[in-house]
Amino acid sequence: MDPSAPLLFFDSGVGGLSVLGPTRELLPNAPIVYAADSAGFPYGKRTEEELAVRVPELLARLVARFRPRLAVIACNTASTIALDHARAALEIPVVGTVPAIKPAAELSRSRVIGVLGTEATVRQPYVDDLAARFASDCTVIRHGSPELVELAEAKLAGEPISIESIHDAIAPMVRQPDGEKMDVMVLACTHFPLLADEIATAFPSIAQVDGGTGIARRIAYLTGGQEWPARPTGKAVFTSPPADALRGALSRFGLDEVHQL
Ligand code: DGL
Repeated sequence: MDPSAPLLFFDSGVGGLSVLGPTRELLPNAPIVYAADSAGFPYGKRTEEELAVRVPELLARLVARFRPRLAVIACNTASTIALDHARAALEIPVVGTVPAIKPAAELSRSRVIGVLGTEATVRQPYVDDLAARFASDCTVIRHGSPELVELAEAKLAGEPISIESIHDAIAPMVRQPDGEKMDVMVLACTHFPLLADEIATAFPSIAQVDGGTGIARRIAYLTGGQEWPARPTGKAVFTSPPADALRGALSRFGLDEVHQL
């Protein structure tokens, strides 16, 4: 394995940074290419048919261009819809992001858990399957919130975020039957851990779980024994002109070069 071969992270926007963060902690010298399909954003509003074609095609272009050793679909929406298609289209290992329903069910005492994702993610049979396998004795309340995706993008662009807006975006989930008993919520969209502090302030009695740390461990396992360069490098590529306002946040995640694909 060429030590300079990067890890490719893929999302519709900045959400995948919540997966890159824990990965950087485990693999500090890994070269990173972070790809955001900003021209296709937001994925949560797209159809299954669109994403099942768009995601593998784009990943194949990125793999041809950057020759990564492994690709991470750091997006629940793309993973729950297109992970199998992407694996079939690529010859490198592909790590997906699936809603952390299992750890949420392990943590819940009230046996009422929430799955907070995009509208596209929460309607996936993949989620039904995880709920049936790992949370069959729980009430699993689902809510899709495009507002929270936009709020996470705005926060990383340096805009002020009000706790009230976070509260209003999540309140419909808590208002569903049995919602008042919910003690754990799954952040089933990679944008949402970027708002973890604001969500905790708005809903202090509900614990949050997400897949970021588990995915980082999986990447470390799959690349175990491989060589890395002496120093970390990172670049971000966007499928539409990159917003200057995001450069500060990208650089905090070690993504100092920013390009349009
Ligand atoms: N970050 C993405 C996810 O994990 C999708 C956000 C969007 O583009 O709607 O689902």
